[in-house]
Amino acid sequence: MCGIIARVGETKDAVDELLVGLENLEYRGYDSAGLAVKNGSGPAVFKREGQISHLKDMLIDEVPAGGLGIGHTRWSTHGPPTDENAHPHTGCAGQVAVVHNGIIENYESLRAELSDRGHTFESDTDTEVIPHLVEEHLDRGATPEQAFRRTIRRLSGSYAVAMLVEGSDAVYATRSGSPLVLGVQDGTYFLASDVPAFLDFTDDVIFLDDGDVVVIEPGGHEITKLDGTPVERAVQTVDWDPQDAGKGGYEHYMLKEIHEQPTALRQTLRGRIEHVTGDISLEDFPEGTFDGIRRVQFVACGTSYHAGLAGSHFIESRGVPSQTFLASEYAVSTPPVDDETLVIGVTQSGETADTLSALRRANASGARTLALTNVIGSTAARECDDALFIRAGPEIGVAATKTFSSQVASVSLLGERIVRDVVGHRSEDIEAVLSAFADLPDHVQQILDFTKAHRIAKRYHDSDAYFFIGRGTAFPVALEGALKFKEISYEHAEGFAAGELKHGPLALVTPTTPVFAVFDGQNDEKTLSNVKEVEARGAPVIAVTSDANETVSQHVDDVLTIPDTHPDVAGVLANVQLQLLSYHAAALLDRPIDKPRNLAKSVTVE
Ligand code: F6R
Repeated sequence: MCGIIARVGETKDAVDELLVGLENLEYRGYDSAGLAVKNGSGPAVFKREGQISHLKDMLIDEVPAGGLGIGHTRWSTHGPPTDENAHPHTGCAGQVAVVHNGIIENYESLRAELSDRGHTFESDTDTEVIPHLVEEHLDRGATPEQAFRRTIRRLSGSYAVAMLVEGSDAVYATRSGSPLVLGVQDGTYFLASDVPAFLDFTDDVIFLDDGDVVVIEPGGHEITKLDGTPVERAVQTVDWDPQDAGKGGYEHYMLKEIHEQPTALRQTLRGRIEHVTGDISLEDFPEGTFDGIRRVQFVACGTSYHAGLAGSHFIESRGVPSQTFLASEYAVSTPPVDDETLVIGVTQSGETADTLSALRRANASGARTLALTNVIGSTAARECDDALFIRAGPEIGVAATKTFSSQVASVSLLGERIVRDVVGHRSEDIEAVLSAFADLPDHVQQILDFTKAHRIAKRYHDSDAYFFIGRGTAFPVALEGALKFKEISYEHAEGFAAGELKHGPLALVTPTTPVFAVFDGQNDEKTLSNVKEVEARGAPVIAVTSDANETVSQHVDDVLTIPDTHPDVAGVLANVQLQLLSYHAAALLDRPIDKPRNLAKSVTVE
């Protein structure tokens, strides 16, 4: 996820307004920022790695005057955060400047084709093919608008794109699968990834649809489809408080990020699975990548540790020895590893000191290391032998939500790649697993639309303690459910393997300690026996289970249902219900949900 902004007006202060817009978009990406302004005839480009303050420093002595400009705040998907990879991107001659949000899936073939025709590239990004393609069309005599439309026709993937061209007084833009809205204010126009970007200037908005092409000039705008057919889109006035607007209308970032999970998962899975044929395609990990590996260890902390547990379960149940370790313990007591061991660091931030330390220990002992992370250019991504990116987009709330779902999806795809190389054949049930992943974004949406989590939170939020139990793939979900609950509600919550209750924790169970029992669809009978044990002690039981599972529903006090799916995917869905439960309980208790006390988003000390 990145943020894009454009401004077109008569007054020459585009740069000031673009900078305000970029600051409002910073939550969409903050590893580099840039802008281009039409100053004279050509676009003058300023861009820099790091936060927007770095870009502002660059403009302190020289604020170019101009009425037209485009800007971008980046969350890396292709190439690390560097000055070169920051947007806007230009072609060979610098007559075109482009900002883009999304992923161009066919960029490698386009880049190869352009290179063959003599184009040279300055960045590692997928975006850079766009200005080069536009440039070719301009050289062949096309108008800027024709060049833009012809270029867009060549792209596949998801994108919102805005472009400035030398000699033209317009900004050209389009969207397909990535958001783009138009702001209107007395002859001045704004385009942005979302409304909050320009709310300081106008609250009159035109919501664009996929496939719309918009051309804005001082005093006028035109919206058409890609083939030129005109479209009418009404201006709407939004009633949003600019202070809260970064949250997109949600009360907290956490809730917004819970609701972003269908989009985040689509982004994680895009181009990586083909469920009908059972094929997987993981960028830098072609067939044979893991030849020679005999065992897999995961190292991680907190929520990422729970995703690691899901990963080792997936891999080990398919015949490859695998274990997950708490990174802080691994670093002090490293198990035997050798060059046939793959050690995977699961870390959203890529900066967690405990995980980095564990990876360094593994590396020093001769293991091969791999970072599974959300942040391109992070320390883990740079230091490990390999990196796979979960593509969840930035997460602002301290409590991890969408990154967990994307981690579990990524770890399963990576797990299958490893299994194929190590065991020598694909998992028998892989078509069913991939099909469940293909349905996952819609299934998460169903939960978001129909959840009863708020009602359950209301019923139980003044209890003495909260227990979460699960077995098999539901065990990490029980741990994660309890972690999220305690983290943001400040209430005592513990997660246990369902079978472990009777070995000690059962002593804590009373009529005022609700037990949330997560069912994975594979071990339900045994988990149900554990449910009966706690019910016998008077504890209310809330099951998180498939909507098809009537046996479970008959035995419990309340149910949070999830769509029926493969057991290896059910955990993500159950966890979404538990995220919502924790969120609503914490909201009822009036906790500072996005910034829980004593906790930080990235923990860089051991
Ligand atoms: C909890 C949470 C933490 C992190 C942990 C590791 O909601 O987010 O438990 O998972 O601090 O962080 P990363 O994944 O950045 O290594």
